[in-house]
Amino acid sequence: MKLLTEYRAPHLTLPNRVVMAPMTRLRSHADGSPTADVADYYSQRASAGLIVTEGIWPHSSGQSEAWVPGLQTPEHVAAWRRVTASVHAAGGRIFAQLMHGGRKGHPLARIDGSLPAGPSAVSDGDVLHLIDGGKAESLTPRAMTRADIEAAVRHYAAAARNAVDAGFDGVEIHAANSYLVHQFLADNTNLRDDEYGGTPANRMRFALEVTDAVVAQVGSRRTAIRLSPGNPQFGMREQDPAPLYRALVAELDRRDLAYLHLTDNDDYPALADLRPRWHGTLIANVGENRAPTSAEAAERTLRAGHADLVSFGRAFIANPDLVHRITHDLPLAPIREEVLYGRTAEGYSDYPSWTAASATSAA
Ligand SMILES: Cc1cc2nc3c(=O)[nH]c(=O)nc-3n(C[C@H](O)[C@H](O)[C@H](O)COP(=O)(O)O)c2cc1C
Repeated sequence: MKLLTEYRAPHLTLPNRVVMAPMTRLRSHADGSPTADVADYYSQRASAGLIVTEGIWPHSSGQSEAWVPGLQTPEHVAAWRRVTASVHAAGGRIFAQLMHGGRKGHPLARIDGSLPAGPSAVSDGDVLHLIDGGKAESLTPRAMTRADIEAAVRHYAAAARNAVDAGFDGVEIHAANSYLVHQFLADNTNLRDDEYGGTPANRMRFALEVTDAVVAQVGSRRTAIRLSPGNPQFGMREQDPAPLYRALVAELDRRDLAYLHLTDNDDYPALADLRPRWHGTLIANVGENRAPTSAEAAERTLRAGHADLVSFGRAFIANPDLVHRITHDLPLAPIREEVLYGRTAEGYSDYPSWTAASATSAA
């Protein structure tokens, strides 16, 4: 299978083309420092060609939910250093996903108690985990001022620097799936009438400012970005995604980034449309809103020339040795949905590898 072959590019050399997709799991301490379980979880999955972490807030004003990790403080850096060291010791490679919630947030879900702010005062309606263990809908955000926008750009850059200091191989800017950068790109969440709103060129300004600030801090070969053109999750509606994403990808292409991570979509076939406009490494995610990505779907995507690498989300949750199982055509374990999010190792780092499960059942 092409999926299992080595990948070599100027910025990345990977033993296979199976990428672990970013997945929020809410296993951090309340202050946003990843726990010892987080190090176990990622190092168990180090046979992936590349791991992209769960979304991590660059600054507490971008914390979307309780128990999501951060990359703002020296304590965060020290705790993430244990995670990256453990992944590297197990032979893996790991990028940190920088995820700013923007309008998605609630004062009771974040450590600084602040109100959420996004491009415009348009509510999200997503149900969020609160620090006290309860749940509540995102509040209607306030519209970000120019000073808020400048601060957010600085926060991404500082977090990228912290990520590299913590031993990450690079950072992925989360510009997908309804988070802050996507909120600027989409016309139903960005109603601004200044230079950050209106035309596609204006709506993509924030994405490019964030990218340039991160590149200035950590270099283009350590900077990547994830886009989900036309993804309708969490009330996002993009009337006519093609012109904006074509222009954005053309701009990003000039920046020689580590990779572009692109989720495909039913209404707008982003992979087919945008692959020819991107000359660097492309990671496809073909599973959003559908069945979990399968090895067969991944292989078809690679063979069609739509991507260099494919990311797997849900299959990696229950199968730490996913690459081994694909290699030997072994059955995949199912996810235990009831412990998808939680405070402990249960449903997180307690999924056995095939070898361990076979040894237990034979005993
Ligand atoms: C539990 C869970 C948490 C997720 N959290 C994130 C996230 O933090 N950042 C992100 O970009 N996508 C996130 N996603 C989307 C996944 O990265 C991926 O695109 C999606 O699961 C589809 O791929 P799959 O079919 O292989 O699971 C999440 C998905 C799941 C299932």
